[in-house]
Formats: sequence, C-alpha cells, structure tokens
Amino acid sequence: MVTSNLYFRAPKKALTISGLKFSYQKDASLPVLNDISLSVRAGEIISVLGKSGCGKSTRLNLIAGLMKPIAGEISINHDKSRCNIGYIFQEDALMPWRTVKANLALAQEIGKVPHQQWQVSLMDLLSRFHLSENILEMYPTQLSGGMRQRVSIIQSLLFNPQLLLLDEPFSALDFCTKLRLEGEFYRFIKDTYRAAVLVTHDIEEAIALSDRVIILNNNGTIEADISVTFDYCQRDPESIRGVAEFGEHYRLIWAKLKAVISQ
Ligand SMILES: Nc1ncnc2c1ncn2[C@@H]1O[C@H](COP(=O)(O)OP(=O)(O)OP(=O)(O)O)[C@@H](O)[C@H]1O
Ligand SMILES: [Mg+2]
Repeated sequence: MVTSNLYFRAPKKALTISGLKFSYQKDASLPVLNDISLSVRAGEIISVLGKSGCGKSTRLNLIAGLMKPIAGEISINHDKSRCNIGYIFQEDALMPWRTVKANLALAQEIGKVPHQQWQVSLMDLLSRFHLSENILEMYPTQLSGGMRQRVSIIQSLLFNPQLLLLDEPFSALDFCTKLRLEGEFYRFIKDTYRAAVLVTHDIEEAIALSDRVIILNNNGTIEADISVTFDYCQRDPESIRGVAEFGEHYRLIWAKLKAVISQ
C-alpha cells in the first residue's frame, strides 16, 4: 500500500499549548480551563479523559480556533490560520444531498487540494479504511453508520491536516466496527506521522490508541499525564487489549479517573 510518500512529514512539535485559560462567563469567575500547558509531537496520539462537562470539547474548540482563550497561547506548527487541522466529531458531518464523492470533493472546492493529489489520496484512503470505490456514487443515507464515519474521517484527511482533533469519534459504533476503525486510524497516524488529540470516555480505547493519556479534573487543570508504553512490539488496538501491561495501564488510569469523577 502507498503510504507516507503521499503526505509531507510534519515537523516535530505539532501542537504546543501554554498557560491556557478559558471561561464561558464574562467575568471569568468559573474558568472551564485554567492554566493548561501541553505539547503534542508529530506522530503522537494523545487521549483526553475526564468527567462529563469538565471541558474536553471546549479545549478542542479552542485548539481549532473556534473560540478565543482568555489567556495563554496555542501554537500549531506555526499555522496561524489553523488550516492544518482536521476536526472529527461523534456524528458524521456529511451533507445528505451530496453523493459520497461530492462530499469528499470539498477538499478540492474549499481546501484547494489539486485534483491529481486529491485523486491519489482518495484511492489510498479508501483502501486504508476498507471502503470500496462503489460507494462514491451513493448518498450518505445509503451507508451504514460505520461507513459514514469512515467517509467523514476520509473527508477530513483529504484536506491533508497535520493535526487531527477527534471528539468521541468511535463512540456511536458497535464494538467490532469500532475496533476495526480504531486500528485503521492508528495505522494512518503512525504511517503518515500526523498528530492527534482524541477525546473519549472509553479508557480501553484511550490505552489502545494513545502514546499519552491526559486526565482533566473538574477545576480545569490537568490531573495526570500518563505515558502508555508497551514492550509488546505489535501495537494494534485489537491485540494490544490482550496484553498483561494493558491491564496495568487500565488499573492506573481508572484509579485516577475514578478519583476525579467522584470529586
Ligand atoms: N456554549 C456554552 N455556553 C456556556 N457554557 C458552556 C457552553 N458550552 C459548554 N459549556 C459548559 O462548559 C463546561 C464544559 O463543557 P464541554 O462541552 O467542554 O464538556 P465535555 O468535557 O466535553 O463534556 P462531555 O464529556 O459531556 O462531552 C460545561 O459545564 C458546559 O455546561
Ligand atoms: Mg464533549
């Protein structure tokens, strides 16, 4: 399969956040995020866990530039316009009146991706995400949920983003589809040397996919930043779940998460 030569290699630091503070209130009396600092390297997958409402999605929106912080800085590989970011949500954002192909053509229309590059990347991505070319003439409503989410991911990747933000992207899928899509996503990031920040409620998913797991607490700061490493050489999200170290990571992360959830 053609892999990394299709994509330019991102520089080492993909995302740096320093002293980030944000509040939805004008007087900033209750900050959702308070003095958050973090950096993510190219080729690295970071998962963010925390109680519902602790500010995970807010943080992705700030990184994407959809909202402005009160204080602090976000540097994305010197990309001030934030053009190199792909944002993937729990539900696909496909336009139902357009065919799959027309949905995927957005990268040419908005992102000005040259046709030849778009075509080659499209074929590579369809193959990576195990989709047949036959779906290109179909409408999103004619696809299964898992297929729609794959198309949605491909739609973002065709813009050639260096940093991917994912907000519970696999949570609406059945377990088998989820495992498979996790594997495809993991291999894509590692083969093409992208960076990804993944928000999830699923500890197993976080361990299976991540190089680091960040746990946010309820007062807007980082409770823990845990490295997830395995001696086992084959790191695919399916087989790694059966490795003894997986259980050790699970126990540590769950203990820390349980502590913040019960605060
Ligand atoms: N547009 C908004 N205006 C005011 N408050 C908001 C707004 N969006 C979110 N909030 C509040 O900010 C806090 C963080 O919300 P956010 O959506 O970031 O949480 P989350 O960690 O992503 O939660 P979940 O796990 O349920 O998706 C919550 O208390 C929420 O009520
Ligand atoms: Mg959220």
